[in-house]
Amino acid sequence: MRDALLAAVSDAEGLEALDAVRVEALGKQGRITQLLKTLGGMSPDERQVRGPAIQGLREAVTGAIATRKAALEQAALDARLASETIDLTLPVDAVPAGTIHPVSQVMDELAEIFADLGFAVATGPEIETDWHNFSALNIPETHPARAMHDTFYLAGVEPGGDEALVKRVLRTHTSPVQIRTMMGQQPPIRIIAPGRTYRSDSDATHTPMFHQVEGLVIDKGITLAHLKWTLETFLKAFFERDDIVLRLRPSYFPFTEPSAEVDVGYTIEKGKRVIGGSGGGWMEVLGSGMVHPKVIAACGLDPDEWQGFAFGCGIDRLAMLKYGMDDLRAFFDGDIRWLKHYGFAS
Ligand code: PHE
Repeated sequence: MRDALLAAVSDAEGLEALDAVRVEALGKQGRITQLLKTLGGMSPDERQVRGPAIQGLREAVTGAIATRKAALEQAALDARLASETIDLTLPVDAVPAGTIHPVSQVMDELAEIFADLGFAVATGPEIETDWHNFSALNIPETHPARAMHDTFYLAGVEPGGDEALVKRVLRTHTSPVQIRTMMGQQPPIRIIAPGRTYRSDSDATHTPMFHQVEGLVIDKGITLAHLKWTLETFLKAFFERDDIVLRLRPSYFPFTEPSAEVDVGYTIEKGKRVIGGSGGGWMEVLGSGMVHPKVIAACGLDPDEWQGFAFGCGIDRLAMLKYGMDDLRAFFDGDIRWLKHYGFAS
């Protein structure tokens, strides 16, 4: 029996088979267990001889099972390690990596350039009240400028208001941030406010959602000269050229007086328009002016004490001019090939 059991142990090919052998030998009904039970019925002399032999058999089989079990477990572990090997020298598939969008890139550049001039970044909601977007900016209900803005109006009643139906709009420009800033903090104020704006308009140079950056300075003794110097310094830094030439054209905005449209000169280099110089012509880049006294007063400040200038500029347009892109709609298509073409994706 000893040889048979030991052979069965060493022949067991797996942990389950080995356990079956253990049950057969040492389980409740096992062959060795049965032998041990016979000891009770033996005479003392017989027990003295058979006892150690049966115990010896039990120990031999128990030890053999433990040894075999350890060997099988080690083999199972070796097999697992072999099958889970990772070859670190194999080449990996390229993981597509995104890059920053041109609009975000330009917004970052603007924040950096204006931070050097002492401007903080301000924000405001994209869903604005009609009052912040128009009335406070000296654009009353009947003003023709409202029609020009192709406004998206939202239906809704001012929370808490009784009969008053207060119109909400998707802001048509970033100028309402002027109002929120002047109402929220004491001058001196120097902020830029980049963000999304909305007008119901769509062609190669207009999308219903686009981006503007607003600039606002409110202090004592501010003049048009400060405005011109600030814009010149900004555009030189943005286009990374010293030969930027500006042209201020008299214009009209209800919230600035006087108002000026600002053109930047360009030259033709290798058949392409390049910002800088003025031999090639002029490109309109922004609207600006001295903040209207009525606007300053609407925000609760004394226009005799505080003056300032403001400007508003299309960010998408700035990006198109700087990076030589010609279709605004492509900015918002999310087409990786377009982004790659202009170096904005890898
Ligand atoms: N808000 C004007 C626009 O969207 C631009 C502007 C801003 C003009 C500030 C003057 C001063 O066209």
